[in-house]
Amino acid sequence: MGAEPLEIHLDDRDLSRSLRRDVRLGLTATEKWLPPKWFYDSRGSELFDEITRLPEYYPTRAERAVLAARATEIAELTGAKTLIELGSGSSEKTRLLLDACTQRGGLGTFVPLDVSVSALAGSTAALAADYPGLRVRGIVGDFTRHLDRLPTGGRRLVIFLGGTIGNLLPDERAEFVAGMRAALEAGDWLLVGTDLVKDPAVIVPAYDDAAGVTAEFNRNVLRVLNRELDADFDPAGFAHVALWNAEHEWIEMRLRAERSMRVRVLDLDVDFAAGEDLRTEVSAKFRPEGIAGELAAAGFRTERFWTDPDGLFGVTLARAA
Ligand code: SAH
Ligand code: AVI
Repeated sequence: MGAEPLEIHLDDRDLSRSLRRDVRLGLTATEKWLPPKWFYDSRGSELFDEITRLPEYYPTRAERAVLAARATEIAELTGAKTLIELGSGSSEKTRLLLDACTQRGGLGTFVPLDVSVSALAGSTAALAADYPGLRVRGIVGDFTRHLDRLPTGGRRLVIFLGGTIGNLLPDERAEFVAGMRAALEAGDWLLVGTDLVKDPAVIVPAYDDAAGVTAEFNRNVLRVLNRELDADFDPAGFAHVALWNAEHEWIEMRLRAERSMRVRVLDLDVDFAAGEDLRTEVSAKFRPEGIAGELAAAGFRTERFWTDPDGLFGVTLARAA
C-alpha cells in the first residue's frame, strides 16, 4: 500500500512562530526554561535514538519488555482497527503492537503523529515497506495542540509510549489527558507508558550517561535556536546537568552557563550569569495510583497496568468511559 504523503498540521511558519513564542517566554522568565519539543530536529531525533541504546537508559528496554509480553493481549482486548501513536519517533517498539494487531486481523490504519518531520519520514517509509497491507498515514503535528485532528471512526487505540507524557508539566499533562478524552469516543482505548518512581541512583545516570550522548542531546536545543533564529549561543559554554527533584518526583535537565554570557536571540539580549541554569526538560516519574487517578479524573477507566519484571517502567491500558 505504501506510506501516504505526510499530513502537515504544523508547517515551517507555524513551527517558527511557536518557537519564537516559546523562546521569548522562556528566556525572559526569572528562571529560564524551554519546552523539550525543540530538541527534536533531525540531529536531536537521531541523538534520542542513540540514547535509547545506552546501557544507562533503562526506560526503552523496560517498556519494550512489557510490550513484548503483552502485545497479543493488547491486540485481543482492544480489537483495534486504527492505531494512533503520539510522539511516535522511530516507532520501533510499536512494531510489537503492529505485529500482534495484524496477526489478530482487523487493523487497517496506522497513524503516527510527531513534530519531527525527519523522524516521521523515516518511520513511515520503513513501516509501509514492512507492513504492506497496512495504511500508514503520518501526521506532522503537536500532541498538545492537534488532538482534535486525529482520524475518527472504527475502534481506535491511541498509544503514547516512552514516558513522553512525563515531559509535560503537571498542568499541561492534565490538559493533555482531558483533550485526549475529548478526542476519543466511549469505548476507544489509550495505552500510556510511564517511567516509575525509583531510587534516584538508577534514574540520574539514565539522564547523565558516561558517553555524553544525553549532554549532546541537551545542547542540541541551543543549536536549533542558533540555526532557526540566528541566535549566537555557544553550546560548549553550557554544562549538561541532570537533577532529581524529590518534591516533584521528576528529573530536570538543565544547561548551566559556565561563565557569564550575553546571547543575542530574536530582538533580545539574554544575559546568563556564571552558574545560571536554563531548564530544558522535566521527565516526571510516576506511581501507579497517580497514573490511574489522573486518567480517571479525565474519564478513562484503567483496565490493565503492567510493569517489566524489574518494576522499572509501567504501561497502562485504559478505556474511554
Ligand atoms: N515514542 C518514541 C519516541 C520518544 S521521543 C519512543 O518511545 O521511543 C519523544 C518523541 O515525541 C520525539 O519523536 C519528539 O519529536 C516527539 N514530540 C515531542 N514533543 C512533541 C509534541 N509536543 N508534539 C508531537 N510530538 C512531540
Ligand atoms: C522522550 N522522553 C520520554 C525522554 C525522557 O526520558 O524523558 C527524553 C529524554 N531526555 C533525556 N533523555 C531522554
